[in-house]
Amino acid sequence: MINLPRDISSEKNLNDLILEVKNLRVSIETIDKRVEVLRGVDLKLKRGEVTAIVGESGSGKTTLAQAIIGVLDTPPVFIESGEIFFEGVKIFPQKERINFRGQGINMVFQEPLVSLNPVYTIRKQLEESIEVQGLHMKKKEIEEELKKILSDLMIRDAERVLNSYPHQLSGGMRQRVAIAMSMIQKPKLLILDEPTTGLDLLVQRKIIQLLLKLRSEFGTTLLIITHDLAVAANMADRMYVMYAGKIVESGTKEQVIRNPLHPYSKMLRDSVPSGYKDSGPLRVTEGNPPDISNLPSGCPFHPRCPVAMDICRKEEPSRKIVEDREVLCWLYDGK
Ligand SMILES: Nc1ncnc2c1ncn2[C@@H]1O[C@H](COP(=O)(O)OP(=O)(O)OP(=O)(O)O)[C@@H](O)[C@H]1O
Ligand code: SF4
Ligand SMILES: [Mg+2]
Repeated sequence: MINLPRDISSEKNLNDLILEVKNLRVSIETIDKRVEVLRGVDLKLKRGEVTAIVGESGSGKTTLAQAIIGVLDTPPVFIESGEIFFEGVKIFPQKERINFRGQGINMVFQEPLVSLNPVYTIRKQLEESIEVQGLHMKKKEIEEELKKILSDLMIRDAERVLNSYPHQLSGGMRQRVAIAMSMIQKPKLLILDEPTTGLDLLVQRKIIQLLLKLRSEFGTTLLIITHDLAVAANMADRMYVMYAGKIVESGTKEQVIRNPLHPYSKMLRDSVPSGYKDSGPLRVTEGNPPDISNLPSGCPFHPRCPVAMDICRKEEPSRKIVEDREVLCWLYDGK
């Protein structure tokens, strides 16, 4: 097992890539066929940045996160090809098991029960998150630290929550505890899959503030997966838009929100009523997300695209570079 060196954002590598995903393809075996759900995904995360992946349900966001954290690749899910690098070290494919979880990459799962151990109280699990850092804190200091983080997350009845088992808490409370647990560990890269879904607006704002504080104090790189454009817009430096298992556009938040290139990104942006502050989950009215097991010919967005051309129905576009941005659309073919 290789233990990666801990090296929180030194000045020199602030602009380094902390994570790189190259041409990742993932399939899921169904009763009668293998369905490709990630169809060649590339992702680059800069150290210390906040990146958001946005897209409608079923576009492959969770599958991508699970591939990065290394919990995929067991039947019926198969990573067919691609490479994943964390701090320049290839973590997939890799013969030797690499220990990058915990203080390297940490993830808050979309279903918070996955992040929590059902047989231990919340107190025990949070204490362990502190102890693994080897800080040699006294019992009283640990207790104070736990109460502080729960209060930061607007959990008022901390004593009851700490003494509870995960199944005794509501979904929203489990979500906050799972976020607390990963924040305590101060990982280099924290992936959060729909971290604020189902929480009220006040708690959402608080969580966003705390995550941004984690980034500024400890240099934590954040990857936020969300179908809530407001969360992405309020937090992210960079955005990736996913559609039918592919990244269809990437760029800075300002580029993607103020001047989207891909018709789907435009549709997402226009579905937000006024500006992008507190806009809520994506509400795309024009058509439904595609069935990934039965994609239309050509560009999978063509049945919903207001500017589709003949070629769009026949051939799937490859990646085009527009200035410093990447977009998957025939409109930018330059022909
Ligand atoms: N274990 C599984 N078995 C069968 N199909 C799966 C499995 N995991 C994912 N899929 C399918 O893969 C596709 C991508 O799923 P994924 O959960 O990654 O999407 P998502 O973008 O995270 O959606 P959501 O916003 O609803 O969370 C979907 O069509 C989903 O039905
Ligand atoms: S390739 Fe064609 S159908 Fe697809 S988004 Fe671009 S214009 Fe629309
Ligand atoms: Mg998901």
